[in-house]
Amino acid sequence: MKAFWDAQHQANERLYLTGSNVPMLMTRLRVTDDDCRGRAVLDVGVGLGKMAQHLQALGCEVHCLDISTVALDRVRGFASTYEDPLALPPETFDLAICHLVSQHMAEADLIRMLTGVIASLKDDGMFALQFSISDDPANNDILDDSRERQISGGCCRTASKIVALVTAAGGKCTIFGHDPWPDHRSSWSYAHIRRC
Ligand SMILES: C[S@@+](CC[C@H](N)C(=O)[O-])C[C@H]1O[C@@H](n2cnc3c(N)ncnc32)[C@H](O)[C@@H]1O
Repeated sequence: MKAFWDAQHQANERLYLTGSNVPMLMTRLRVTDDDCRGRAVLDVGVGLGKMAQHLQALGCEVHCLDISTVALDRVRGFASTYEDPLALPPETFDLAICHLVSQHMAEADLIRMLTGVIASLKDDGMFALQFSISDDPANNDILDDSRERQISGGCCRTASKIVALVTAAGGKCTIFGHDPWPDHRSSWSYAHIRRC
């Protein structure tokens, strides 16, 4: 999948990199500018780099995790960069955010990411995670997500699956919202995760 994401970043492919509107993203994740200002914040899944730039403008210590070195090149001038979630520094971040990434991740990769990010939170740190739930139960919680499913963002999971994965990764979580996406026969959901 790294080669796929590198190619999207090299081509500036908006279909896959999204470039989500920052205020909308933060509202969905129930994170405010005041939660971020001056803090050490980890952005997981850089996309076009808009969120990382916003964090820099807020005076944050900006850190970015992405599977793609090309993505990380966008933010290297002002952010610390990480390709491997298990290489993140322990107990370092006040806040971590992850928007439109988990539905592109097979379960083994998501477990790695959750393990690394949860361990990188300070005692009072919080990880705001977006995930996708399919309206069709048969499309949720599939263990061996295919490459096609990862590319299309179809790695959908139930809230109870996310809770189980977070618990196994050393965290505890509150699921707080579901936005329906009827055109995609799914909803996007949001969790706040803390280290146990
Ligand atoms: C759909 S874009 C979302 C970008 C941005 N967060 C947003 O909401 O607009 C997905 C981003 O996650 C990155 N990504 C994909 N798989 C990843 C993984 N396993 N670990 C970390 N980053 C990943 C991609 O390189 C890309 O930057």
